[in-house]
Amino acid sequence: MTESHQTRRPLVIDCDPGIDDMAAILLACASPEVELLGITTVAGNVSLEHTTRNALRILALAGRQDIPVAPGAARPLVIPAPRRSQTIHGDDGLGGLVLPDSDARPDPRGAVEFLAATVRATPEPVTLVAVGPLTNVALFYALYPDLAARLARLVVMGGSIGAGNVTPAAEFNVWHDPEAAYRVLTAPGLPRPVPTTLIGLDVTLTTALTPADLDTLRRSDGIGRVLADPFQRYLDSYRRVLGLEVVAVHDAVAVLEAVLPGSIQVQPARVTVDTTLGPSRGNTAVDLRAEDGATAEPSTVQVGVAADPRAIAEHLLTRLSSLPTRPGSGPGESAQ
Ligand code: BDR
Ligand code: CA
Repeated sequence: MTESHQTRRPLVIDCDPGIDDMAAILLACASPEVELLGITTVAGNVSLEHTTRNALRILALAGRQDIPVAPGAARPLVIPAPRRSQTIHGDDGLGGLVLPDSDARPDPRGAVEFLAATVRATPEPVTLVAVGPLTNVALFYALYPDLAARLARLVVMGGSIGAGNVTPAAEFNVWHDPEAAYRVLTAPGLPRPVPTTLIGLDVTLTTALTPADLDTLRRSDGIGRVLADPFQRYLDSYRRVLGLEVVAVHDAVAVLEAVLPGSIQVQPARVTVDTTLGPSRGNTAVDLRAEDGATAEPSTVQVGVAADPRAIAEHLLTRLSSLPTRPGSGPGESAQ
């Protein structure tokens, strides 16, 4: 049965835009299965000031200035991260893409209060997709455990069963705030566990878009075309830094799993985040062994292990190409 407007799943995205965060937000805007209730921002790829400004501009590009953007944490919980991700996302976070300013202003409540108010006021349980460092989510869990426990689902882009991307051991989002990731993934401390899905590099690097997909986007109408240049930059930096010829749209893959549950194959696992200060800081130790009581502790998280790369790419390309830009909001055009 086709989902009607009334049955749209309520969704909030916590993010740090970020080129692939941009794709994630636009994918949610282009997906009738979900209703995007708001965006909360966090420092990560670039500063909080930039991630918030980018989120506002991305929504304006999609003609969705009605969606609130609530800024959250400007730094990790305990230890400031040694660096941001300008090498990959550029100084401004959008790989040099200049989007017109938005008329909308950040929600004065801030991320954690926004999350609390939204979960409290929404009759249906809310799905939260976290595609940046987990600082805001950890604070929400700590301050509002009863409300956090009402979430329908938490989908996280972060971590890796195998190698990292920012260090040999760690993926960027977890590495940027390992203490927050520990709180959310290893020891949530909520009155009721939130069904949590962790989508890491093992899935997002194997479902990356190809250079040919990039050409398809470039030829498409609307927002798909706007994404082509930042995606090209993303591809160039992945080639330079990791030697991979891919457009890894990590965050959009996590949003796709929230939009179309089951897009990613998962396995239950116990995830332990390394919060030590050594070379493994930010590593996610993912224990996929069956729970026989002797080998493993109880699973806490469903971890993404595989997905059909072409199916993911088709969904992303179709949806991102279908979303029109609001007149006057495209890059290089003057904002009204
Ligand atoms: C993650 O790190 C960020 O650079 C991306 O936006 C994504 O959320 C991938 O490791
Ligand atoms: Ca991100």
